[in-house]
Amino acid sequence: MTNRQQVYEGKAKILYTTEDPDIFLSYFKDDATAFNAKKKGSIAKKGEMNCAIASHLFRQLEARGIPTHFIDQPSANEMRVKAVKIVPLEVVVRNIAAGSLCQQTGIPLGTLLKQPLVEFYYKNDALGDPLLTRDRLLLLELATPEQLAQLDQMAREINTLLQEFFDQCGITLVDFKLEFGLDRDQRLVLADEISPDTCRLWNQAETDPTRRVMDKDRFRHDLGEVEAAYDQVMQRVLAHQL
Ligand code: TMP
Repeated sequence: MTNRQQVYEGKAKILYTTEDPDIFLSYFKDDATAFNAKKKGSIAKKGEMNCAIASHLFRQLEARGIPTHFIDQPSANEMRVKAVKIVPLEVVVRNIAAGSLCQQTGIPLGTLLKQPLVEFYYKNDALGDPLLTRDRLLLLELATPEQLAQLDQMAREINTLLQEFFDQCGITLVDFKLEFGLDRDQRLVLADEISPDTCRLWNQAETDPTRRVMDKDRFRHDLGEVEAAYDQVMQRVLAHQL
């Protein structure tokens, strides 16, 4: 594409301008990081797989009434998206205890939560993306109280839809991270990506705690067969509709 300029380079994607000021191009990289980039590596074909998975999931969510930044997927590694202003929050939804929830609370891995837990983290690499309280979030003016209520509601709706979708794929949606942006009308839209990089996904056909893992935890904890797990998620996701 001509005249494109880099807007932002993140750990997994690069965002470029296009001829249209309302449209950005998001390029999905094979680079993988974990633990705030203390661990670095690469996963073969991850860019293509995550771009395909995220594009399909955004289409499914749009069809069920969730506004997203997704426009289309012009090539294997590229997604055209609406040029939104990213809200500097990582909105995490948890259905089953894993990861930092277990580390910070002592709740055993795999505990089914009575209701989904929605948490807000400050998207700030220098500070290590800390967990926020509601009052700290408002103190930092990262969102208005109205936006916060809307983010919570959208995250719960998306969780219900994604749980139903992944269940059809024979996959349990353990937890995931969302990012939102504000469009030119100040409307909140789902942004970034939804992929095995940003979700914990467990294969329902496996009970073994290592074998069931189909997401970036395979990379984080050196469980092996990372590409094969991502590929399996992609095959199943692309074969299903909400
Ligand atoms: P956590 O248990 O490490 O807090 O992660 C919760 C979920 O959020 C998990 O599905 C992985 C995802 N996540 C990201 O997408 N990016 C991040 O930087 C972190 C820490 C977690």
